[in-house]
Amino acid sequence: MKKILVLGSGGQIGSELTMRLRSVYGGANVVAADIKLPLIDDIMQSGPVEQCDATNAAQIAEIVKKHNIDAIYNLVAILSATAEKNPMLGWNIGMGALLNCLEVARENKCAIFTPSSIGAFGASTPLDGTPQDTIQRPNTIYGVTKVAGELLGDYYFTRFGVDARSVRFPGLISNVTLPGGGTTDYAVEIYYAAVKGEKFSCPLKKGTLLDMMYMPDALDAAINIMEADPSKLIHRNSFNVTAMHFDPEEIYAEIRKHKPDFVMEYQLDDMRQKIADSWPNWMDDTCAREEWGFKPKFNLQNMTVDMLDILSKKFGK
Ligand code: SER
Repeated sequence: MKKILVLGSGGQIGSELTMRLRSVYGGANVVAADIKLPLIDDIMQSGPVEQCDATNAAQIAEIVKKHNIDAIYNLVAILSATAEKNPMLGWNIGMGALLNCLEVARENKCAIFTPSSIGAFGASTPLDGTPQDTIQRPNTIYGVTKVAGELLGDYYFTRFGVDARSVRFPGLISNVTLPGGGTTDYAVEIYYAAVKGEKFSCPLKKGTLLDMMYMPDALDAAINIMEADPSKLIHRNSFNVTAMHFDPEEIYAEIRKHKPDFVMEYQLDDMRQKIADSWPNWMDDTCAREEWGFKPKFNLQNMTVDMLDILSKKFGK
């Protein structure tokens, strides 16, 4: 039976991935860890929890040994817009946690998953149908950490045999934990505003296309890539994965089909706009589909129904 450590269990991905992993592998086999405790009740009550500063390798190693961990999900990162305000923090947290995890994985023979991102691309990348293997010259510190992380993952695999795998997540849309300071966050916040009956100020301009994915598909991707038959993997760090792409007008129109009174206005955030303009309009994820069967279930239509339904219940609307 696999024993898994999730670092960053309190974050946007971690809070949901921990619960999904526990439902697949059993609560006792998935250790939730974060720098800040307590975590949400569901996590606290369904399996082991540890406090861990991922920039401290000794702390990770101690937990890995104590629980006999054989796979690490490293979800520790500062998202793009926040990292841009404090680049050293973005680098230190992103790279610190990753290098520590890779070293602990090497010493303890663990597999390791670390998400990369659409942020690993930049303005000189072909932005329509972005290929799996292409130019990666991002101009954000977040992107720099993601490219370096991809390279390190492949390096640890070829040099030391560490089973490092990764996907390039697009903007992730979820309803449990809010993302913290990303460029794609608007596509989450817009649903909260619609359900609460508030006007929404969109930080990105009309026509800004970005790849997106609903969290249930992202959780499947994170689990399925780690379960994939290694002999079928031509790539490892990191696979393009996407489920949909839209601009602010399209998501607004989709929400208005269900909430006709909902109003969105534009209040541009120059930094986020600049970042979004340098990211793919849509990625080609054929390699993920062919090498390990990636197949998302949600598009803009059924995701919108689900988001509005779940958030309406959450806020009693
Ligand atoms: N969602 C992330 C961000 O916007 C991209 O991976 O920073």
